[in-house]
Amino acid sequence: MKHREFLGYSALGALVLSTAGTMGYALSRQLPHSTPPVGLAPTPLGGEPLQPLPRIANLSETAGRFRSALTPAPHAVPLGDELEARLWLYNGKVAPLIEVREGDELNITLINELEQETTLHWHGVPVPQAQDGAPWDAVAPGESRQYRYTFPAGSAGLHWFHPHPHEGTARQVAHGLAGALLVRPPQDLLPLEVEEHLLVVSDLRLMANGEVAPHTAEDWMNGREGELLLVNGQREPRLDVAPGTTLRLRLINACAGRYLRLRLDQHELTLIGTDGGLIERPQPLEELLLTPGERADLLVRVSEQAEGRFQLASHPYERGWMGERPPHLEQVAPLLAIHTLNSGVHPAVALPERLGRVEPLGEPAVQRRVELTEVMPGHDDHGAGHGDPHAGHGAGHGAGHGDPHAAHGGGSGSGSHHGTHGPGAGHGAGQAGDARPEVDFLINGRAFAMDEILFEGRAGEVEEWEVFNNSHMDHPFHVHGTHFQVVASRDGDGEWREAPWLAWKDTVNLAPYQRLTLRMVFREPGDWLFHCHIIEHEELGMMATIRVS
Ligand code: C2O
Ligand code: CU
Repeated sequence: MKHREFLGYSALGALVLSTAGTMGYALSRQLPHSTPPVGLAPTPLGGEPLQPLPRIANLSETAGRFRSALTPAPHAVPLGDELEARLWLYNGKVAPLIEVREGDELNITLINELEQETTLHWHGVPVPQAQDGAPWDAVAPGESRQYRYTFPAGSAGLHWFHPHPHEGTARQVAHGLAGALLVRPPQDLLPLEVEEHLLVVSDLRLMANGEVAPHTAEDWMNGREGELLLVNGQREPRLDVAPGTTLRLRLINACAGRYLRLRLDQHELTLIGTDGGLIERPQPLEELLLTPGERADLLVRVSEQAEGRFQLASHPYERGWMGERPPHLEQVAPLLAIHTLNSGVHPAVALPERLGRVEPLGEPAVQRRVELTEVMPGHDDHGAGHGDPHAGHGAGHGAGHGDPHAAHGGGSGSGSHHGTHGPGAGHGAGQAGDARPEVDFLINGRAFAMDEILFEGRAGEVEEWEVFNNSHMDHPFHVHGTHFQVVASRDGDGEWREAPWLAWKDTVNLAPYQRLTLRMVFREPGDWLFHCHIIEHEELGMMATIRVS
């Protein structure tokens, strides 16, 4: 296996930066591998000025409080001349923004105007368990509930929110339900001259009548990639800046299955923050892999050339596609066109010595193993690779490994968590035309069930998880309720390597047969999910629960 850069952050080496002018991205009407019933909608033209994310207004007049309502409901959104996309959106907006400050109290009423249950999950925010929007806390159609919590110290960063109902998340995300949640620090360290833009990347697959196409079997197996790639709800918007401007581009990959391998023509990218906020020192990168669920905080000093055109684009990435590869996987997908004006050059901006603080968590009190597998019916290929207690990581593993019923959380306490749906319910609970294949995506040999607890842990203890992707596809691994540090990585046939620097993450990619050692502390008791953030894999079972007491 080829040597991988740590965490998919490909550092600038002796590599020549891409200066390709014409990227081979056809404004296409390509059909996906299995054609949706009515044919795809035409792709609307791009090139309009980048719009800021539409804000959710704060209805509270008290300082330090953010109060509003989010109403997921069907909306028709005009796309180009004739087409209306029929989406499900929060408050009628594609990628709405909630902006708060550390220490603020959030009070959001979810008013469910969908015809199915939903939740609001605050991805990346360390909330109390009852506010996490987990599937066992679903809000029925026509009902509402409040989410209320305070942003603790250290929670500054770009987070997001999306639905998380049992068996319904993939469909709701495919219809457009997602939003950005920006938590500002008490004081921003970055100089004022830095020009900040939030970029929410999402994708849609529409039929010719503007309806969201139902999931195909390929969508379920691979994670759905919509042909219509959007940035802040726009197709390839344009950003005009003075030459030499220092941009801060804060991205969310809100796609269900699409990996973004980001490059900007003739520019290096400088990573300054990850899912959980700023890192300590800027890291220059040639490109950045941003998987579903991840966020990146990037600085770019734009070229001093006047009237230049530079494309921020996602380049092809091989993530272990199952079945025939759709053509868009081989193409460069433009996200944002950066144009420099014919004006004076902005001088370079000096950055502070140190940006954030990412102190090592220290030695673990408990070690666990998490194994990700895919199982096709009639194949028993998920047993391979167990039991290799390699040096230095062997001691004390084993909770929940091997015995699928270990640490089963029988009957105690948490009420609504149990019995709403039978375990394993519903391959087939989705929409008409839904083509769920008979394939299981598993964690430690188990498909997700709402009444099962895989691990039991203690609040405040340092946990060390060795996560092993024992499959031939990439999977982005996400943990609720906390952030983790990736402390070591090992490729399928390679050596363990220590992380060259630490970052707060809540979602991290694992290449096929890669292992990562994560350290984390759960501060809040409760039942916390961890799962693949390819939404379809999560929904087909690659999700489990740790009960923290
Ligand atoms: Cu962003 Cu459990 O998810
Ligand atoms: Cu996955």
